[in-house]
Amino acid sequence: GVSELRLISMDEVALHNKRTDCWMVIAGKVYNVTHYLEYHPGGKGELMRAAGRDGTDLFIKTHQWVNAESILRECMIGFCSGPSKNQT
Ligand code: HEM
Repeated sequence: GVSELRLISMDEVALHNKRTDCWMVIAGKVYNVTHYLEYHPGGKGELMRAAGRDGTDLFIKTHQWVNAESILRECMIGFCSGPSKNQT
């Protein structure tokens, strides 16, 4: 639930860059997308390009119209605490 959300640094996000343990920042929010990987319409490989990183720029470039906040509601684990640009 919302009460479990916390501030998460990019250093911590970067530790989770594997298919079996994959975190990603989209628009300042940190998501555990490990289970979503199977369902990403663009494929696992595409989504993995932003594994452990800030995927916002890639996300906007590929599908600005997609509502990530809604799709990943259950996957949200916190907010990105620091500078998260220059990642992808
Ligand atoms: C396609 C969701 C991140 C690359 C899609 C589609 C959805 C989606 C719903 C289908 C879009 C449509 O048909 O209109 C998400 C979510 C993301 C995410 C919720 C957040 C984690 C990314 C990232 C990349 C990416 C980081 C990196 C490049 C693509 C590509 C397609 C796609 C290449 C296929 C586009 C096409 O075939 O026309 N994604 N995506 N996505 N996504 Fe993502």
